Amino acid sequence: MKNIMQNRFSCRNFTSKKIAKEAIDEILDLTRLSPSSCGLEPWKFMVVSKSDDLAELGEICNNQDHVKNCSHAIIIIARNDLKGGCEFIRHQVDRKPRTPERLQKALDHFAARFDPQSDDEIMAYATNQCYMACANLVNIAQSLDVKSCIVAGFDLEKLTKFVGLDEHFKPVLVVALGYSDEKAPAKTRQSFDQVVIQK
Ligand SMILES: Cc1cc2nc3c(=O)[nH]c(=O)nc-3n(C[C@H](O)[C@H](O)[C@H](O)COP(=O)(O)O)c2cc1C
Repeated sequence: MKNIMQNRFSCRNFTSKKIAKEAIDEILDLTRLSPSSCGLEPWKFMVVSKSDDLAELGEICNNQDHVKNCSHAIIIIARNDLKGGCEFIRHQVDRKPRTPERLQKALDHFAARFDPQSDDEIMAYATNQCYMACANLVNIAQSLDVKSCIVAGFDLEKLTKFVGLDEHFKPVLVVALGYSDEKAPAKTRQSFDQVVIQK
């Protein structure tokens, strides 16, 4: 982990080498194990790999060349269909063995929690979970020698259209992935004492 944290960097200079499908699948198969609030996993991961699609995605991402030139881009998508009684919540909750009474109790709990919230509030909640998954994704990629760049600079309206899912799904981050000959630059970070508070 030490090696991964010290050597991951935002890569903006990918080679033309494509990542094998098995490696992309492994990155996402491990990313989906990320923790999430109440274990709801309110996310989807869209894999973009065709050069035409990457060119379009790069344009949507404020013309960032590293998105156009990466091997694969992963669009991390938050979902806000977390209302009480919705099919998704029922599915998530029903994965653990529970009596019908305990299942109903859990569904009631989520209804009481989410039903008073606006769609935007629930989307913000889901977005936070996606950021956790994203942090894991880039470190998992680094562990496989795959370089990455997290990208939040994009036209949301155009990206939502590109993703093409219904209104309950909102793209929150794009991660460009690929290979590079670049070495990790020296880290520019606040010092330990600047960020750690000993109470
Ligand atoms: C939420 C988030 C959004 C980012 N958006 C962009 C982006 O749109 N374009 C880009 O080139 N880098 C983007 N970055 C990368 C940061 O600039 C980078 O992580 C930071 O400068 C630290 O450098 P390092 O990742 O090389 O250690 C983003 C990073 C994060 C965490």
